[in-house]
Amino acid sequence: MIFLTFLFGASNLRARTSIQDMKLRKLVILGAGGFADEVASIASDVPGVEIDAFVEAIDKNRCGTHRTGVPIVWIDAVSEMSNDVRGICAVGTTRRHNFIQSAAERGLQFTTIVHPTAVVASTAVLGTGVFIGAGVVVGARSQVGNHSLINRGCLIGHHVIVRDFATIGPGSNVGGYARIGHRAYIGMGAVVLDRMEVGDMSAVGAGSVVTRNVQSSVLVVGSPARFSRDLPEGM
Ligand SMILES: CC(C)(COP(=O)(O)OP(=O)(O)OC[C@H]1O[C@@H](n2cnc3c(N)ncnc32)[C@H](O)[C@@H]1OP(=O)(O)O)[C@@H](O)C(=O)NCCC(=O)NCCS
Repeated sequence: MIFLTFLFGASNLRARTSIQDMKLRKLVILGAGGFADEVASIASDVPGVEIDAFVEAIDKNRCGTHRTGVPIVWIDAVSEMSNDVRGICAVGTTRRHNFIQSAAERGLQFTTIVHPTAVVASTAVLGTGVFIGAGVVVGARSQVGNHSLINRGCLIGHHVIVRDFATIGPGSNVGGYARIGHRAYIGMGAVVLDRMEVGDMSAVGAGSVVTRNVQSSVLVVGSPARFSRDLPEGM
C-alpha cells in the first residue's frame, strides 16, 4: 500500500518526525513540465490530498489549459489561493529558486513530500519544500535544506549537509560528511566521495566522481571530476 508522508509548515530545518502532519491539504505544484507529472503522481496517491493546480511562470499561453485534468494557472493566481493550500516545486534545475521566491512573495506556503519507499533516518532533518523521491536513503544526522530535491534512488550518507535549493540527480551517491552547496546541482549517477564539499551554485556532471572539493560556481565533469567551465548562474 502506498503511504505518503507530508510535512507541513516549517520555515527552518526541523526534525522530520516533529513536523509530520497527516491533515488533508490542497496542493499546488510549481511547474507544468515532465517532472511535474512525477510529483503529481506521488502526491495524488495520498488519500484526500487534492492537486489544485500546476503553476506556470514562464509561458502564459499554457495557462487556461489542463495537464492530466488539473488546471495550469499563472503564478499571480497564487495570491488568491486559500490558506490551506501548500506548494511544492517540480522544477529540476536549481533555477527554481526564483520561481519559489516569487510564489512565496505572493503568500504561498510550502510543504515537504517524502516518497513512501524512501528511508530517512530518524535523526535526519528535512527543511520545508523538500521533495524526496522513490527509493532514496538519507543517513543518520544528515540535513536537507529548504526546497532541495533529492531525486529517485539517491543515497545520501550520514552527516551530510545539503543546503537550500540543491538538486541531487537520480541515483547519485553522496558519501558521509559531504557538503552540497546552496543551489548546487549533482547530475544523475554522480558520486561525491565522503567529506567532499561541492560549492554553492556549482554542478557535477552526470556519472562524475568528485574526489576533491569543488569551488563555487563551476561545472566539473568526469572521473575524477575536473573543471569544465564557470557557471555564474548555476544550473
Ligand atoms: C555536465 C553537463 C551539464 C554538460 O553539459 P554542457 O555544458 O552542455 O556540455 P557539453 O555537452 O557541451 O560537453 C562539454 C564537454 O564535456 C563532456 N561532458 C559532458 N557531460 C559530461 C559528463 N557528465 N561526464 C563527463 N564528460 C562530460 C563532453 O563530452 C564534452 O567534452 P568534449 O569537449 O571533449 O567533447 C551535462 O552533460 C550533464 O551531465 N547534465 C546532467 C544531466 C542529468 O543529470 N540529468 C538529470 C535528469 S533527471
